[in-house]
Amino acid sequence: MVYVEGADELLLVEDLHKWFPIRGGVFSSHIGDVRAVDGVSFSLARGETVGLVGESGCGKTTLGRLLLRLVEPTGGNVYYRLPKAESDRIRAAGVGPNGGAGTAASPETDRELQRLRQEYSIYRFSGKRLKEMRRHMSIVFQDPFSSLSPRMLVRDIITEPLAIQGLGTRQERYERAAELIQAVGLNPDHLWRFPHEFSGGQRQRIGIARALAPHPEFVVLDEPTSALDVSVQAQILNILRRLQRDENLTYLFISHHLSVVRAMSNRILVMYLGQIVEGTDTEELFERPLHPYTQALLAAIPIPDPELKRERIILSGDVPSPAAPPSGCRFHTRCPAVMPICSRVEPPLIPVRKNHWVACHLYPGPQGAAGSAAGTGDLPHRVELPAVAALRPIPFAGAEKPEEPPRDHLPTDNPPFPAAAAL
Ligand SMILES: Nc1ncnc2c1ncn2[C@@H]1O[C@H](COP(=O)(O)OP(=O)(O)OP(=O)(O)O)[C@@H](O)[C@H]1O
Ligand code: SF4
Ligand SMILES: [Mg+2]
Repeated sequence: MVYVEGADELLLVEDLHKWFPIRGGVFSSHIGDVRAVDGVSFSLARGETVGLVGESGCGKTTLGRLLLRLVEPTGGNVYYRLPKAESDRIRAAGVGPNGGAGTAASPETDRELQRLRQEYSIYRFSGKRLKEMRRHMSIVFQDPFSSLSPRMLVRDIITEPLAIQGLGTRQERYERAAELIQAVGLNPDHLWRFPHEFSGGQRQRIGIARALAPHPEFVVLDEPTSALDVSVQAQILNILRRLQRDENLTYLFISHHLSVVRAMSNRILVMYLGQIVEGTDTEELFERPLHPYTQALLAAIPIPDPELKRERIILSGDVPSPAAPPSGCRFHTRCPAVMPICSRVEPPLIPVRKNHWVACHLYPGPQGAAGSAAGTGDLPHRVELPAVAALRPIPFAGAEKPEEPPRDHLPTDNPPFPAAAAL
């Protein structure tokens, strides 16, 4: 399980699975499953932004939707506002195979886990508790064109979540809409217009205002800027950061663009075919990517300086189908460092440095055993891939790298997104 020691956790994700059934044949019978999310375990601390990256189809959106219970899981749990002692207890009991090795739980531990699931897992919530949870969790969708109802006034779009939750009087809801429309850089006049009267960037601002209306504490940002051009992207990212500071929000930031994720997140999780393969602090990931897949992703980021050259890592083969993931390590069909063990044994996600987790047989852990204690010193059995030596620290996507944000885990005062300087 990827987590930060001592952090104040808002959500704890335990061995989460979502398999979509595939039906076929004359009787539309169940012939297989798309393993969109397949054993994911991590935690999110209050006030942080965790970036989620990976190729198209690896399960990012499905994971984001699972965290909000917009889809029901096939297995696993998401614990909400779990007291610290209880999260440690869940970790000690162990999670699923890819989330790190677990121990066989005694009947007493098993009973205790059942109690915690009953009390804190969002998939067990119902009635008032579920409504309360929904109020505190929100999402900004990728597509600003299809995510707003064309027949509703902007005022009603923004106040709809408040009305559904029965929060405030009508007057108070309109006041919140007026406050938010200005917070996202639009005018109160815009409340009286319909979505088709706005550009893509403006619609995305409206989507952000709607997501924030009920004062959520956790927001999934599912590629919130990928449909927008670069200058508008920068404006939206800066708005998101400011709102995070002002409203004390926790973000899961999903994106294909590693440079955007770098600018926004203080931690990054890398997903491949439904599983997390690496997770650590942003700067650590860019300076010391360990998983061959992460290295390939980073090596593919273009460098804006023609003088600088970086060796590209070309991944061979197509992305395998999540309906039939490869045996052992799912990346073995494309990995430049593949070994005989890789196709046979699934590598568990283990800590190989402080707060740095990786699922790869190149890093077997201090005792060479899956799920062994966290290594805090030099990497054990570190194998230097040829491509790693060629990787340099990745320059920022903008012209100049801004001042380093404080790396004390929480993004209290991150600098503005670099491209904004050019606006
Ligand atoms: N409702 C669904 N029914 C069946 N399969 C689905 C469903 N939703 C997603 N999938 C499948 O699950 C896998 C993961 O999809 P998901 O949308 O989570 O990926 P993603 O990482 O967000 O991709 P992208 O970067 O393109 O948005 C894909 O193979 C997708 O086809
Ligand atoms: S476990 Fe093997 S195949 Fe998988 S990433 Fe590591 S070296 Fe490559
Ligand atoms: Mg997606």
